[in-house]
Amino acid sequence: MAESSTLAQTIRDIVQRHDGLPTRLLQILRETQDSLTWLSPAAVECVAGELGISPDKVRNVAEFYSFLYTQPRGSYDILFSDNITDRMLGSRELLHYLCERLGVEVNAIRADGRVSVGATSCTGMCDQGPAALVNGYALTCLDKPRLDRIVDLVNRQTPLAEWPREFFEVVSNIRRADILLGRHFADGAALRAVLRRGPEAILEEMVKSGLRGQGGAGFKSAAKWISCRNAPGEVKYVVCNADEGEPGTFKDRVLMQDFADLVFEGMTLCGRVIGARQGFVYLRGEYRYLVDALQATLRRRREVGLLGEAILGDPGFCFDIDIHMGAGAYVCGEESALIESLEGKHGVPRIRPPFPTTHGYLNKPTVVNNVETFAATAKIAVEGGEWFASRGTAESKGTKLLSLSGDCERPGIYEYPFGVTVRRVLEDCGARNAQGIQMAGPAGHMISARQFDRRICFEDLATGGSFMVFDQSRDILDGIRNFAHFFVHESCGFCTPCRVGTSLMRDLVDKIHAGHGARYDLEEMRKLGRLMQVACHCGLGQTAPNPVLDSLDQFPESWERRLRSTTFEPAFDLNAALDDARRLTGRSDPGAYLNEEDLLVGAMP
Ligand SMILES: Cc1cc2nc3c(=O)[nH]c(=O)nc-3n(C[C@H](O)[C@H](O)[C@H](O)COP(=O)(O)O)c2cc1C
Ligand code: SF4
Repeated sequence: MAESSTLAQTIRDIVQRHDGLPTRLLQILRETQDSLTWLSPAAVECVAGELGISPDKVRNVAEFYSFLYTQPRGSYDILFSDNITDRMLGSRELLHYLCERLGVEVNAIRADGRVSVGATSCTGMCDQGPAALVNGYALTCLDKPRLDRIVDLVNRQTPLAEWPREFFEVVSNIRRADILLGRHFADGAALRAVLRRGPEAILEEMVKSGLRGQGGAGFKSAAKWISCRNAPGEVKYVVCNADEGEPGTFKDRVLMQDFADLVFEGMTLCGRVIGARQGFVYLRGEYRYLVDALQATLRRRREVGLLGEAILGDPGFCFDIDIHMGAGAYVCGEESALIESLEGKHGVPRIRPPFPTTHGYLNKPTVVNNVETFAATAKIAVEGGEWFASRGTAESKGTKLLSLSGDCERPGIYEYPFGVTVRRVLEDCGARNAQGIQMAGPAGHMISARQFDRRICFEDLATGGSFMVFDQSRDILDGIRNFAHFFVHESCGFCTPCRVGTSLMRDLVDKIHAGHGARYDLEEMRKLGRLMQVACHCGLGQTAPNPVLDSLDQFPESWERRLRSTTFEPAFDLNAALDDARRLTGRSDPGAYLNEEDLLVGAMP
């Protein structure tokens, strides 16, 4: 009884802190879980009651996000990053080592309830892996000595706040800076510029700059802001997409860690230009370690008049920013799924059109831009569009932040003018002997050494920023298999071509990887991939087959050497499956057995 009234009081307090708003559901569930370690049925009922919404809705949301638990977890919940670059650094071996030392099975809770260990998709620490999360906080540069100390800390029940600080150290690793990272920016300069020159003049500078969205799709940013500014309605919103879920990408982490003022300035500038009073940062759940510092920056900006009411003394300039935490769903980086998530729902991409610029958050006109895009807009407002456009190529102006990881000596952040060749990047980061690059994450493209003179820009190789290097010692299929599993895990399940297609693709990749594939399976993968590219509802499913299709073209030998000599290899042993029937019918003659030709007749189209 006492326990249930404590639970009710805890949840009531949390809900009140969020003004009882159902749009805050994801944040409320995160905080409830922080207090109670998991979302029990009683907790779900209670949240629903406090918010006046159905328990089913709360349960659906809780079950959608990887970092919300509707089953108990250990008091210390440790999740190893499962990105291929972490695996290349030995993360799987470390995971098993830790489980053995702690006496716990993978994905189970130790009998004393104290600890659970599992894996999660990429944590965005690829430049300082192997990495993991403990209760949502990033642990970097893991090795066996560090894990030995963690075992001790867990067994002694040492609170996380008393764990060595260096375990949680996240360094920025900026290796090359250009106009975005390299030039000093005075806080408030972009806001003074818009007050002095007016929103139209700033939009003109943005048009001149040619800035394109840095989240990957490359939509012209000025066009997006103009569309939202012109959309009817008094209430508009600005959303900064800091979800950064693409494996191998961590440039937005660095911007939020070292350049938060610049990003907030870009958001506030956007607020002034489109006529919005409220902005949101949708921050990747894995970047929880940043929240306190970001809140402190927001407070400071309010204190010095760069945020809040009457910004820089202008009573007509009011804008504030809220931080909204994601909870481990890659699809929520897709802008319409992100908006659903911001509204307190599970993150299923909307049918578009209409687009967010006219029908976004709460159906109001909304600009959604990537972190790097907002940072660039603040610089453009101060330095001018021509200055920005003086860098880059005809169709890709300015610079691009690349997140370098994998087989290179100097992983980290590299800022280059658009148009830089892949070869130049490889030289700079000390990647000798590279066999292939996965550009733009699993959803992007895999290129081989034959293509290293290609240029990074929208005209040639577009990227949101991920650049993973595989040297000659790697089996490309290990990477492809990792990506195929990633997409199955991250598919939101809304549409059949993606829900079923990602699973079928994974099964085919697993089959070939395990040495049971045949040429027939390669053709099946091509057909399935082409189908997914046209039939899936959103970008996740449409791009999910890319790694398979690219590697079939670029690295055919990696696939070929895994194939058996037959042209068809069934996914299961049909002859063995017929054993029971043969026994029951008493048949043992040759005609009761299938030969390879029989199998092919059934299998070939
Ligand atoms: C599955 C999926 C995940 C995405 N993840 C991100 C992300 O983490 N960050 C991001 O800025 N854009 C992401 N995008 C692109 C966004 O939908 C959107 O285009 C972008 O936020 C717009 O900002 P920009 O114009 O500044 O690039 C994703 C798209 C898809 C289909
Ligand atoms: S393509 Fe995949 S992620 Fe996108 S809506 Fe369909 S099931 Fe969801």
